Amino acid sequence: MRELITKLEETGNLNQTEWIALINGRTPKLAEFLFERARAVRHQYYGHDVYIRGLIEFTNYCRNDCYYCGIRCSNASVARYRLTEDEILDCCQTGYRLGFRTFVLQGGEDAWFTDKRMAVLIRAIKTRFPDCALTLSIGEKFRESYKLFHDTGADRYLLRHETYNANHYRMLHPASLSAIRRQKCLFALQETGYQVGSGFMVGSPGQTAEYLAEDMLFLKQLNPHMVGIGPFIPHHATPFAMEKAGTLELTLFMLGLLRLMLPKTLLPSTTALATIHPEGRKMGILAGANVVMPNLSPQENRKNYSLYDNKRCMGDEAAEGLAILTQEMEEIGYHIVTTRGDSLVTIQDHNQELNLKDFTGGNENV
Ligand code: 5AD
Repeated sequence: MRELITKLEETGNLNQTEWIALINGRTPKLAEFLFERARAVRHQYYGHDVYIRGLIEFTNYCRNDCYYCGIRCSNASVARYRLTEDEILDCCQTGYRLGFRTFVLQGGEDAWFTDKRMAVLIRAIKTRFPDCALTLSIGEKFRESYKLFHDTGADRYLLRHETYNANHYRMLHPASLSAIRRQKCLFALQETGYQVGSGFMVGSPGQTAEYLAEDMLFLKQLNPHMVGIGPFIPHHATPFAMEKAGTLELTLFMLGLLRLMLPKTLLPSTTALATIHPEGRKMGILAGANVVMPNLSPQENRKNYSLYDNKRCMGDEAAEGLAILTQEMEEIGYHIVTTRGDSLVTIQDHNQELNLKDFTGGNENV
């Protein structure tokens, strides 16, 4: 199995059979070897720097009904909220004073935030904080909307593909949503000029090593600026309430593999990882991650943005959260930096690698 890791490091590529063999053949010892290599590659490109992004969960209204997600529209037990423009700008201001130079506006797919309202909001943030990068994470939209938001000043967009395989996608989502539609959005975002982040949940119900292999092949082709992965964690008010959570062990292993496959990509050590293990965030960094995304949302709203149960950092104030994080990173020899933290993935890399014509992966009907 070590040969496969070496091959991955040297070529950045494995085929489907090799991915499956590596994922199924993992052992604690192999993982240690992988993490060592992943750190070496990470240090080569990003040193010991950890980039921070201030997450603002600005609406928990959502028109979708994803089976895993706590803010799905049919969960009537959530108190729904929307932040006002002033509240959002206050979150940014607090973050700015603390050194944040990237803000991530994340929300459910909320029809109240029409394109026009989004554009006004984006312009307000970019006018007031011109030296900051603005990331949107607001789901599937029309190409024209993506273009409008980009023209208005949004720099980056996060949209996890969740799972590449069309059959698996159908197990996790209602019929109104499809894997191919999701993937098309990602290509539209890239073509529009965004720095794009994608990613998937680890250990979601029905996931197999085959599906994970397809996720890796897809991400290799997409070559995103960022890849967010975290363990699936059941939420009590969803159809997946009784399902098992994804493991720390597999999530870390996938992080290490992603670092070797896409050396220059930004890899967050996610809140979901921090939720399933008290040291999860540090372990993510030690497996090759280089980004953390502390929460800047108003404290009173956070409990209502629970995508899954027991989400970490519900109580921390923004400043307090950052102080804890800074200390955690220092404990393992890493340092939080307060720059925009742009990805080293370049457009040139895309021109070389974005050749999707021959790629159908598991989706024969694409
Ligand atoms: N467990 C883990 N991650 C989840 N997400 C949504 N629900 C859950 C859950 N129950 C993730 C999805 C989504 C991101 C914002 O949060 O991958 O893209």
